Amino acid sequence: MIPVSSTTITVPRSREVPRHIAIIMDGNGRWATQRRLPRVAGHARGVEAVRATVEACARRGVEFLTLFAFSSENWRRPADEVSLLMRLFVSALEREVAQLRANGIRLRVVGDLSAFEPGLRKLITQAEARTAANRRLTLTIAANYGGRWDILQAVQSMLRAQPELAGDPDRIGEQALSPHLALAYAPEPDLFVRTGGEQRISNFLLWQLAYTELYFTDTFWPDFDAAALDRAIESFRRRERRFGRTSEQVSAAEAG
Ligand code: IPE
Ligand code: IPE
Ligand code: MG
Repeated sequence: MIPVSSTTITVPRSREVPRHIAIIMDGNGRWATQRRLPRVAGHARGVEAVRATVEACARRGVEFLTLFAFSSENWRRPADEVSLLMRLFVSALEREVAQLRANGIRLRVVGDLSAFEPGLRKLITQAEARTAANRRLTLTIAANYGGRWDILQAVQSMLRAQPELAGDPDRIGEQALSPHLALAYAPEPDLFVRTGGEQRISNFLLWQLAYTELYFTDTFWPDFDAAALDRAIESFRRRERRFGRTSEQVSAAEAG
């Protein structure tokens, strides 16, 4: 049984560095368009920003980094952009896994993977297996992920595991459901970052962001680097995370 670390059940300990950062990597297309390059050039540069961010997070002691790479709605894009994104995903897996393994990074991929080509699914399984023993940082790539999909698949998975709950819905609580969510192995994100200027969730983590601190930056994803990450963490440090309590209660809890 996975231990439940729910911000609506218990108040997490306050920290200087977020344990878990979740990022919507947005603005690749606009970064490229501004330079009169094809959108795909922005996605290619986005992979470099992923590499830099993973390394910067590991060095700062972040334990979990979750990156939104492809949403369940991104299939609506032109077919050639979708297929290029898939090719980039494949080539990144082929090229980067040895480095992740050497750097102590565990890779997980969450989302509805049944929509992907068998070759890509196999690469994902192999990459997860090859990095499974790593503990320095868990890097999760959300691919064909949607927050609503996640909640629905969790309900289905819970009822498959405990069919008796269907006849006794009052017994369904957070503890029954949350072990079936795609990110059950991670604490809820402390800090959410969205690059590219939009201020929306776009069907990313819905359940898990209940008490996450939100940070939006106009920086396009290909320009995101260690300094930009530090600005986000600095903003996080200035927040008072009350989790429903009063400011006085928070001060008293931190002093005691
Ligand atoms: C984010 O950049 C990458 C993916 C959604 C795959 P976009 O491609 O959304 O870039 P903009 O928002 O069009 O600039
Ligand atoms: C969200 O970005 C998905 C990813 C970054 C993978 P989008 O660019 O697709 O989001 P919307 O459609 O503008 O909200
Ligand atoms: Mg976008």
